Amino acid sequence: MDVTIIGTGNMARGIGARVVAGGHGLTVLGRERAEAEALAAELGGGARAGEVGEPAESDLVVLAVPYEAAADLARRYDGATIVDITNPVDFSSFEPIHPGAGSAAEEIQAAAPGARVVKAFNTTFAGTLAEGAVAGQPLDVLIAGDDEEAKGRVARLARDGGMTPRDAGPLRRARELEAAGYLHMALTQGTEAPFGTALRVVA
Ligand SMILES: NC(=O)c1ccc[n+]([C@@H]2O[C@H](COP(=O)([O-])OP(=O)(O)OC[C@H]3O[C@@H](n4cnc5c(N)ncnc54)[C@H](OP(=O)(O)O)[C@@H]3O)[C@@H](O)[C@H]2O)c1
Repeated sequence: MDVTIIGTGNMARGIGARVVAGGHGLTVLGRERAEAEALAAELGGGARAGEVGEPAESDLVVLAVPYEAAADLARRYDGATIVDITNPVDFSSFEPIHPGAGSAAEEIQAAAPGARVVKAFNTTFAGTLAEGAVAGQPLDVLIAGDDEEAKGRVARLARDGGMTPRDAGPLRRARELEAAGYLHMALTQGTEAPFGTALRVVA
């Protein structure tokens, strides 16, 4: 598959590392071309770089940007298979934001009605994605979406990157995934490894 990641921050680095580990093609788009070029070079795997707004003919477009920026960007990539990784949080108060649509993912879907929006990766922390595991155990990637083929692409990306995809159901389950993402942020701070923890389904 070909994956485009929009953003050059922590999650772009973490998810990009899993994309490359899985042997998939990667393009990083940044607001600053130089930032995107630097991250692409760091990630290796022949990753390409460009600027936000460039067309993305990829199998997946990952919005690795703050919640506040995601819906506008989704509009620009309407028609794509969009991966929403956001956790809507007011970082000045550390209180969760409750989008009117029910979840950030549903808000993004409403903003880009021609896109196939999949919620994923919001419950995994950036550093653990870059590492690929926590305490030697693979990461769970919790996935919600209404389009099975689109969810399948995200599941394949997770599996090829050494993680375990978990189907959480339709896109409206993004509400619960966003609550879980927030809960994980609250819980991790009381651990010996803040932001180095993982949520995992054990069977
Ligand atoms: N960090 C985590 O462990 C974690 C875990 C789960 C989910 N998430 C979610 O992942 C998303 C990204 O988090 P992060 O930690 O990677 O943040 P980050 O390190 O601050 O990176 C954010 C990136 O978004 C870009 N950006 C900001 N506004 C933009 C806009 N209007 N248009 C285009 N690009 C824009 C920034 O570009 P500039 O450099 O040009 O400002 C930067 O490259 C957030 O929604 C967060 O809730 C994060």
